[in-house]
Amino acid sequence: MSDTLAALLAERFGAACPHFSTADAPETWQHIAGRGSCRHFTEQEVPGELIELLCALAFCSPSKSDLQQRDIIMVEDEGLRLELNRILTSGPLAQAWIENAPHLLVFCGNNRRQRQLHDWRGKPFVNDHLDAFFNPAVDAGIALAGFMQAAEAIGLGCCPISAIRNDAGTVSDLLGLPDHVFPVAGLALGWPKFPPRVTMRLPLSTTLHKDRFDDSTVRGDIEAYDEERTQHRPITAQRDIDTFGEAERYGWSEDKARQYAKPEREQFGAFVRNKGFTLD
Ligand SMILES: Cc1cc2nc3c(=O)[nH]c(=O)nc-3n(C[C@H](O)[C@H](O)[C@H](O)COP(=O)(O)O)c2cc1C
Repeated sequence: MSDTLAALLAERFGAACPHFSTADAPETWQHIAGRGSCRHFTEQEVPGELIELLCALAFCSPSKSDLQQRDIIMVEDEGLRLELNRILTSGPLAQAWIENAPHLLVFCGNNRRQRQLHDWRGKPFVNDHLDAFFNPAVDAGIALAGFMQAAEAIGLGCCPISAIRNDAGTVSDLLGLPDHVFPVAGLALGWPKFPPRVTMRLPLSTTLHKDRFDDSTVRGDIEAYDEERTQHRPITAQRDIDTFGEAERYGWSEDKARQYAKPEREQFGAFVRNKGFTLD
């Protein structure tokens, strides 16, 4: 394994990173290990043809039963982009950085096409249960990951945007999404202003299991992770000090607990049911 890859994995997983001795590491692995979300872009545009090529590569990723229940919407119209910016940059979950991203895409789950096949082929659609929503959502996520890997490999910067679902109804109207088509994530895209930064991940002792799920060491693992991650890159702005006060030690677990102590996207379930999914 190259020294660069070993160093990146050590940075990503910290002291608990196992020693991997694989000799022939492809360069792609360095890209994967060193990647990071990008929220600061130059003003340079990405050619539309390149974005379409990246979408094609995204669709090369696997799809549940070859059902291909995901679509991508490239936002090209300036007025539409402004409307979407307005939603994404306002309200309690506003994210100001998004409006400066040169390009915005929306990855959608699409179960409509499957239902159309049933109509055209005169066959009953008898799988109108949670899977009808779950599989397209997973497929869209896999395509999102494929797109990002392809984009980052050519030096582009990306950041997924779950905030596209903050007001899913309005976004859906703006994008003309019919029944059984729903946004999974937006994606900001452009040429990065800064090189990617490595964000530490939980240790493999927490997230990788052999044969049987085992989280017997999880609390201690996370305390150690909090500590090491804070040393590596402290979180500079504490969330919701008005409610929770200023913590002396503020690590990842405190940040995530504070984040989900506040409701996010409470309406999304209702939106999905409104789109025709039963979710039983
Ligand atoms: C489905 C999904 C939705 C996300 N939504 C947002 C978002 O709305 N805003 C944002 O700034 N980052 C968003 N992110 C990026 C994550 O915050 C980021 O991946 C995480 O902090 C880890 O950092 P890294 O990607 O640099 O390793 C999202 C990531 C995923 C996978």
